[in-house]
Amino acid sequence: MTNAELLVWSDSFVTGVAEIDEQHRILVNTLNEANSKLTDTSSIELLEQITRDLLSYALYHFETEEDLMQNYDYVGEKSDESGTHLEQHRAFSAKVVAVRDGLKSGSRISRDDLLSFLNGWLVNHILNTDKKLGAFISAKRGAA
Ligand SMILES: [Fe+2]
Repeated sequence: MTNAELLVWSDSFVTGVAEIDEQHRILVNTLNEANSKLTDTSSIELLEQITRDLLSYALYHFETEEDLMQNYDYVGEKSDESGTHLEQHRAFSAKVVAVRDGLKSGSRISRDDLLSFLNGWLVNHILNTDKKLGAFISAKRGAA
């Protein structure tokens, strides 16, 4: 598949932390809705609206994960992993802000470039980064 196709939820995305998994499902649905709405000729206004809603939910979601990192001392016990994780959240937010700044100054990102970035980032981040956090929290919850 190319990265601009619809995402299909898979068990391999499950981190084992219910609140994270719930928000990931919402993010997957949000990206699929964007995919369905966007065409090659979509207006800048629609791109602005979609990226604004996405950014606001992504920031809320990152806050949820980052609060969990603090509460379970992921930051103290896995400082490298948590450092990489936080950097990925920051880089994603910065990229979406840059796309939005571009839109505001009239430069239109193509739907495929936008969706390839968003879908590729989300899948890669869940599989390689969030799952490590999920395993850490699940182990702590299991031991409690
Ligand atoms: Fe994350």
